[in-house]
Amino acid sequence: MIPLIECPLIECRGLTKVYGAIRALDGVDLAVQRGEVVVVIGPSGSGKSTLIRCLNGLEEADSGEIRIDGASVDAHSPAQWRGVRQRIGMVFQDYSLFPHMTVLHNIMLAPVRSGRRTAAAAKQDAYRLLARVGLEDKAQVFPAQLSGGQQQRVAIVRALAMAPESILFDEPTSALDPEMIREVLDVIRALSRDGMTMIVVSHEMGFAREAADRVIFMDQGRVVEDGRPDRLFGAPSQDRTRRFLAQIL
Ligand SMILES: Nc1ncnc2c1ncn2[C@@H]1O[C@H](COP(=O)(O)OP(=O)(O)O)[C@@H](O)[C@H]1O
Ligand SMILES: [Mg+2]
Repeated sequence: MIPLIECPLIECRGLTKVYGAIRALDGVDLAVQRGEVVVVIGPSGSGKSTLIRCLNGLEEADSGEIRIDGASVDAHSPAQWRGVRQRIGMVFQDYSLFPHMTVLHNIMLAPVRSGRRTAAAAKQDAYRLLARVGLEDKAQVFPAQLSGGQQQRVAIVRALAMAPESILFDEPTSALDPEMIREVLDVIRALSRDGMTMIVVSHEMGFAREAADRVIFMDQGRVVEDGRPDRLFGAPSQDRTRRFLAQIL
């Protein structure tokens, strides 16, 4: 029998995004397989946020191709991007919870509004997912009553409530005090064990080393180096990667 060749869940080719004179993305190729955890590192301004924002249509790339599960996304079709965003969740540095809604309503909003779940089912999902991150007793509070680490765990639950196939994280722990970083990274590690496909922009090199299947180093809108964490951290092939690691480690 001929084995089925699985196509990457998320793939881009030649992705380019220009802001005036700045090439935020300068021809990025990337393929992420199902179940893979890819950590993206690189200096500030290297295009990390722009990359993951383009991959789920929050920014429109100027050129290049994005394929989700093998199917090319028409960059100009809002309907296609809505579909992509139901399959690929996003978690931001600043949590982006709605401050005037309880935790429960933050989590139920998208599944109910998109018609994916009834209110009753969405509520059940929300409690089940909150229990997974140890916050089942926080359903009725407002975001401002929670610590940063708790808010970020709620933001992850909100993404999970859409039953996504993948989640993209943009520096999920950068706004957190050190003691809260761990509780958020632990949730991401648990998702990885459950097989979630994830792209995580992070400055947490310990996390990248131990949780990533692959690490990508970006600089000036390009992927400079892409490899297994032991190789990329232990024996980087590019001088630029070496210099960056020497600065931060
Ligand atoms: N909306 C925008 N308007 C103008 N320039 C932007 C915008 N977003 C990003 N940039 C620029 O694009 C480059 C890449 O930014 P970004 O993707 O945020 O980098 P990173 O996340 O790696 O810090 C930077 O030079 C940044 O200033
Ligand atoms: Mg960024």
